[in-house]
Amino acid sequence: MSLKFKNGKFTILQVSDPQDLQYVRKTMMKMLDKAYDRVKPDLIVFTGDNVLGNHFRDARTLTPLFVKTKEAEFKAMEIAIEKLLRPVEDRKIPFSMIYGNHDDMNEITKKEQSDIYRRYPHFVGLDNDIEILKDETFNIPIYSEDGSEVKFNIWMLDSAWKDKEEDKCYSQVKPEAIEWYKKKSAELKAQNGGVPVPSLMFQHIPLIEMLDLMEECSKDDEGAFEGPDGKYFKAKPCVDGEIGEYICTVSQGNGQVEAIKECGDIKAIVFGHDHQNCFTTTLDGINIVQTPCASFRCYGRRSRGVRVFTIDEKTGDYETEHLNYKDLCGDSLKAELEYIWDADGMLKEKILLCCGVGLITTTIKHIFKRK
Ligand SMILES: [Fe+2]
Repeated sequence: MSLKFKNGKFTILQVSDPQDLQYVRKTMMKMLDKAYDRVKPDLIVFTGDNVLGNHFRDARTLTPLFVKTKEAEFKAMEIAIEKLLRPVEDRKIPFSMIYGNHDDMNEITKKEQSDIYRRYPHFVGLDNDIEILKDETFNIPIYSEDGSEVKFNIWMLDSAWKDKEEDKCYSQVKPEAIEWYKKKSAELKAQNGGVPVPSLMFQHIPLIEMLDLMEECSKDDEGAFEGPDGKYFKAKPCVDGEIGEYICTVSQGNGQVEAIKECGDIKAIVFGHDHQNCFTTTLDGINIVQTPCASFRCYGRRSRGVRVFTIDEKTGDYETEHLNYKDLCGDSLKAELEYIWDADGMLKEKILLCCGVGLITTTIKHIFKRK
């Protein structure tokens, strides 16, 4: 399937960290439905932790659904992916994905997982010719309206995986992926008359260089959050948006920043992984975009939502905005109650809600009894 600009524009909807199980949280799905219908994207990218892959086995302990074998775990993953993708597939919207750390924290290989995604007719990607990269890292060209030339490009880089034999998790973009990026970027540039093809690069786990976006501060400072060793940090003034948690980065750079500068094609590099961080900034001349989680089955803030990129065909430039739950679902009492009910980290609000409902019910019963 080739993707094309329409009327000079191409819209990408990023859904990051929707991580959920075979029992998907309905409020997240409702929020995503609203996003699909409002944005009407030309492409949706799921940027990792697409499922909560390390919790299929213990999702419902002591119930008949408790998962014990690899086959049962695979079935649970199939259902979780189907729940996430069905609304996209039914709307006939092209979509793609990269993996996050949670996707791969189980016994199911990336090839097996990739084959599940490839079953969907509107899926694009996971088509690298390089054997070591074919189930994880690839690019998606966006063509001019007449389909004659590549006007924009999307890099989808894997940054997290588990070595199933060693039972060890890794977080870095493989050196082979960076070498492939440099070679492929040069090919696209040559086909484009020697001019780099403007691109967005999506990757789940932030660059190690992004640690430089935070500075140590006092616990009482505005915007302070706890980091390692009990120290407190806040965002540097160059950050436009919110850093709500210490940036969790890849373990090593492997020359990625140098490669991006050398190729000169990246308009921005876009991350997920950190559920409470939502910002844009520039680091060492590279535009950085950070998108918080969509998931309700995890820690998070009111920033749960999605991000939109609108690409201009003529300039190759992009505009981006983040849409949170409130933007998408409104601020009615019903929307608020659904949010509180489904989102993790809202225990206090849930207790207050139950007490409130209990109090109202008791009062009504008492009134009727008196009559
Ligand atoms: Fe993650």
